[in-house]
Parts: sequence; structure tokens; C-alpha cells
Amino acid sequence: MVRAIAALVGAAFVFVLALALFGTVSDRIKTPPAETAAEWVQGRTEAATGTHLLNADLASAGVLGKYDRRQLQRGFQVYKEVCSACHSIRLVSFRDLADLGYKPPEVKAIANQWQIEQPSPNPDTGEAATRKNLPSDHFPLVFANDIAAKAANNNLVPPDLSDITKARHGGANYVYSLVGHGYVKQPAELLKEFPDIATPKGLYYNQYFASLNIGMPPPLKSDGQVQYTDGTKPTVDQMAKDIAAFLTWTAEPKLENRHAAGLAAMVFIAIFCFLAWGAYQNVWRDIKH
Ligand code: HEC
Repeated sequence: MVRAIAALVGAAFVFVLALALFGTVSDRIKTPPAETAAEWVQGRTEAATGTHLLNADLASAGVLGKYDRRQLQRGFQVYKEVCSACHSIRLVSFRDLADLGYKPPEVKAIANQWQIEQPSPNPDTGEAATRKNLPSDHFPLVFANDIAAKAANNNLVPPDLSDITKARHGGANYVYSLVGHGYVKQPAELLKEFPDIATPKGLYYNQYFASLNIGMPPPLKSDGQVQYTDGTKPTVDQMAKDIAAFLTWTAEPKLENRHAAGLAAMVFIAIFCFLAWGAYQNVWRDIKH
């Protein structure tokens, strides 16, 4: 008796679930969700080349990818000369830059000459004061707090960029597309289709930003904005690739170790398979005909 009731209750439960599922599916078919402005852009404009985002084509991509040290140094230069005016990289220490190929005296000089100093209270009075950065310091914050950041940036907080390539879908390709190829003229038909997408004052149209209107003024405006010392031509495209590479490194400085460990594990498994096969042959040698 109890079993029959339990089975009935179960059947009723499944029936209700099936009904709900069928209702949702048929609703979806009858009235498909309206296209959003971002989908319109993805479907009909430059942003739609290939799979939406452009490919930064970094040396670190792929399972065996390695960082291109010179590119990382160029990316750091773009960060230092352009992005660091608004964005911090608080998870990175100056001494981590040794990983990009800088010698210890160079790291020391970079830390020492960094424009924003470290907060450090006066040892006698305890009053707020600053001191020069040391290699062991983390990169200092650009704004003391979010209120100061908002006051300087049209009520928006420029996010910390240390792990932005992990935090955004598309990672390095997103950063490359956003700053290198995102700021284009808004298509007139888009406005006709979605009048409320008109860019408000103080924002900028960017075809790779989720809401299409971003609070960041175009950071890479023209070729030659930074002067590279390794002979690479500083086009907007190149600078965008280089900063994407640098921000990939800040988010995952140990990427190469991970790739090497993965390769070692695959080799180990291959050898192990071979040994296991050999042992199998050996054990069954006398039994098989
Ligand atoms: C003048 C200040 C300023 C400069 C310089 C600047 N940014 Fe920004 N950035 C902002 C602000 C403000 C936001 C937040 C925008 C928003 O939420 O609408 C932002 C947001 C971003 C985002 C996050 C977008 C998202 O998906 O949320 C990335 C990535 C970014 N900036 C990269 C860069 C890079 C790379 C540089 C240097 C080449 C740079 N920024 C230079 C002000 C700046």
C-alpha cells in the first residue's frame, strides 16, 4: 500500500515537472526571446569576424605555449605608460618583473621610479605619508579607494587588471579586441533598431563591451603612442596585443610551469602504458597459444 502511494506521488511529481518543461519549451518556440543590441552587433558588424572576438595570437596560447619575454616587456611598457594612469595591478610585486627578463638593478630602478609611492605612516608622528617603492612591494593602488576612483572616472571604478584575463570570457583575446579594435563608429542601423543604445554623454561606444557603451575613454589612440626600444612598430594593434600578453602573464605567471608539468605527465603516462603492455605480454606469455 505504502509503495503504491509512493509510486503515485512520484508519478505526479514527474508529470508536473514534464508539464512545466513542455510549457517553457513551447513558449520559447512560440515567442523566441527578442534579439539584444549586443547580439545584433555580433551578428551584423565587424565584431562578428569569426567567433566574435579577434584572436590576439599570443605565443602563450595552446597547451605547450610559452611567453614571449620581449612581448611581455613591451606589454609592461604599455601598462606603465598608458593603463597605469587609471588601473592598478595590485596582485603583482615589482620583483615579479624579474620573470620578464629584467635584471635585479633594473627591477630596483623601476620600483624606485614608479610614480605612485607606497603609503607608509611617518614613524615619529604616525601621520599618513609615502615612501619610494621597493622591489618587494606590490604595485601601489592608483586610487586610495573606490570613492576617489569614481570621482576621477565619471562615477565608474577602473577595475584592477591583475587577473582581468581570467575574469573575463575570452581572456587575452577580449582585452586585445576591446582596446585594440573595439572603439569604432556606432552603426547607424543599430541606432534605428535599438534607439535606447544611444551612447550617453561621458561613455564611449565599444563593439566588444557587453553593454556596448563603456566608461573608459579609448586608451590606445594612435600608432606610436609608446616608443618601443626593440625595433617593433608600435601600431595600435601591436600595443593591444602586447598589453593582452602582459595581462595574461599577470593573471598566470606560472603558466609555463603548468604547461611543462602537463607535458611531463603525458610522457609519463605514455611510458607507463608501454610498460603495462609489456608486463601484460610477459605475464600471459606461456598461457596464450
Ligand atoms: C582614463 C582612465 C583609463 C585608462 C588610461 C585606461 N582605462 Fe581601462 N577602464 C577605465 C574605466 C573607467 C573602466 C570601467 C568602464 C566601465 O565599467 O564602463 C575601465 C575598464 C577596463 C576594462 C574592463 C572592461 C570590462 O569588461 O569590464 C579593461 C579590460 C580595461 N579597462 C583595460 C585597459 C587597458 C588595457 C588600458 C591601457 C591600454 C586601459 N584600460 C586604460 C579607465 C581607464
